[in-house]
Amino acid sequence: MPRLLLCITGGIAAYKAPSLVRLFVKRGHEVRCVLTRAALPLVGITALQTVSGNPVYSDDLPAQFDMDHIRLSEWADMMLVAPATANTIAKFAHGIADNLVSTLALSVRCKIVIAPAMNTVMWDKPVTQSNLGLLRDRGFFVLPVGVGELACGDSGAGRMIFPESIVEYVACAQMPKLLAGKKVLIASGPTQEAIDPVRILTNKSSGRMGASLAAAALAMGADVTVVSGPAEVLPPEGVKRIDVESALQMHDELHSHFANADITIMAAAVADYRPARYSENKLARTSEMTIELQSNPDIAASLGEKKRNDQTIVCFALETGSEDRAVDKMRKKKCDLMVFNKPSDSLGTSDTSAVILLTDGSREEISGTKTSCAQKILSKAVSMLSDKTP
Ligand code: CTP
Repeated sequence: MPRLLLCITGGIAAYKAPSLVRLFVKRGHEVRCVLTRAALPLVGITALQTVSGNPVYSDDLPAQFDMDHIRLSEWADMMLVAPATANTIAKFAHGIADNLVSTLALSVRCKIVIAPAMNTVMWDKPVTQSNLGLLRDRGFFVLPVGVGELACGDSGAGRMIFPESIVEYVACAQMPKLLAGKKVLIASGPTQEAIDPVRILTNKSSGRMGASLAAAALAMGADVTVVSGPAEVLPPEGVKRIDVESALQMHDELHSHFANADITIMAAAVADYRPARYSENKLARTSEMTIELQSNPDIAASLGEKKRNDQTIVCFALETGSEDRAVDKMRKKKCDLMVFNKPSDSLGTSDTSAVILLTDGSREEISGTKTSCAQKILSKAVSMLSDKTP
């Protein structure tokens, strides 16, 4: 796991730094924290030292090495600036090195990831957007911002995204921008089919794979839309998320976005059936009960019927049985890439996955973290896209 230098600058979101460190440590990163002067009053040094298990560095704290900025630069495999204020972003964009954090930005050789956080007016200012553009052009990975209520009372874009989303994106920071200019549509999570106001029929699905695919697609440069059922793990902030409950709602949303998508990924566990009748009132308990079911549409197959030559569809086949069934499904649904996996490899909370990528004529076994599998799936899907377009 990359050794992570977490640089905390003076935005209110600095108070979230200890939770962020904990999440990184849990994933196996070694973390060292560096704070600007403006961040010092916003976050507890002892808390950061305790959760990271390392000393904390700042211009006003005693130096730990003879030259902190050089030693820390040599140590780091990745530098994350969270929150990154408009002021620090401007310094990075123009090579100003007037404190430890901005000096580190000049002296590290590793990837720098930035999680901006500021008031919405500051975010919208052309100078901020142009500074961020400069940083992107120079290889910085600029994370999206959250939209909503801000610490100053305003509402709009500019909030630092949630620590969970930052951790997800950092895992994808080194991915190549193979999807620049591409639109990726992802269906994720389970669907829920209502029986009555309090009971549902559903499938087991955490939404973890869909979330990893969404983070990887965004990191690889795509414009990402996720149609998500009620999943335990939601896609990271910054991608367009459309929430649905039932298979019919998922069907309609996917069909309305499909024409614009270059790559569509059906990572959702769609319930194959729904109750034939919905009861407005909670059904009373009886000694026996029979629920009549009605088939839901096969969403992937219906998209397959509409697919143009410049589009690629990826499906998942969760099978307890043989791989042949997955190949049959691939043909029946007219999908280009089928990700075949066994329930033990995909359900539950494990962060790793082992899957087989099937196409018409190829078979490739892949394994690793869900993030690295997501990257391989997306790389394969985009290579198939370029094979199709002359
Ligand atoms: N799928 C879909 N619509 C459905 C059911 C499944 O779009 N009503 C998609 C899934 O998102 C997945 C692929 O089809 O990408 C295969 O799903 P799976 O449940 O393995 O196959 P089914 O077609 O449901 O066949 P079976 O239940 O017989 O295994």
